[in-house]
Amino acid sequence: MEVVIAREDEIGELIADEIAGLLADRPDAVLGVATGSSPLRVYEALARRVDAGETSLARARAFTLDEYVGLPPGHPARYDAVIREEFVARVDIDPAAVRGPDGDADDLDDACHRYEEAIRDAGGVDLQILGIGTDGHIAFNEPGSSLASRTRVKTLTAQTRLDNARFFAGDLDAVPRHCLTQGLGTILEARRVVLVATGEAKAQAVAQLVEGAVSARWPGTVLQHHPDVTVFADEAAASRLE
Ligand code: F6R
Repeated sequence: MEVVIAREDEIGELIADEIAGLLADRPDAVLGVATGSSPLRVYEALARRVDAGETSLARARAFTLDEYVGLPPGHPARYDAVIREEFVARVDIDPAAVRGPDGDADDLDDACHRYEEAIRDAGGVDLQILGIGTDGHIAFNEPGSSLASRTRVKTLTAQTRLDNARFFAGDLDAVPRHCLTQGLGTILEARRVVLVATGEAKAQAVAQLVEGAVSARWPGTVLQHHPDVTVFADEAAASRLE
């Protein structure tokens, strides 16, 4: 596992450069995209490259990591809505080429199964962008998640609901209790993983991720088993590394 310590804006540029390089080699590359604040600088930097004609996502495809269960259509906190606003609308990717797990499905288990199939049918994820939760979750694989898990229904922890209340105007009761999420085993199959962590609140999770024992207690630690991961952290997020 490689660790790069840089400013948040530099992290965005570095990862956007890497994505542009991937697209130059493989214009129809499959990206794994995350919601939340961590990847925003990456999407901004990528949008600048598209606007400047330096890269194009016109033939790229993308899969999101997770989705809340039970948010009404049109709710701005739905991850599908968030990824369309933060990523899809800013670059030239075909909106139809961006998929996420279906949190509206009547049969959620079947929706998870179909999502795994869709990723497999696309040939797997070439480059997965991740953030990490303060409790060490990646996607919504909360502490205690099986290290071999696949896309499934999960219950959000109290900590994650608290962390995410900011996307619901601070109203904790409005934050859903369940989600669909790619599993840790699913994420491990991406050919390349870049994880972004910024701010002091992520320092313990980053220290565990990089230097802790691999354990379901800190789900991100499973990435130590992946052959091609880079953790991009700012000084504050890296402050508890030995
Ligand atoms: C988002 C996701 C989450 C976030 C994590 C960090 O799709 O799966 O794991 O990456 O909660 O969130 P931020 O980046 O908002 O601190």
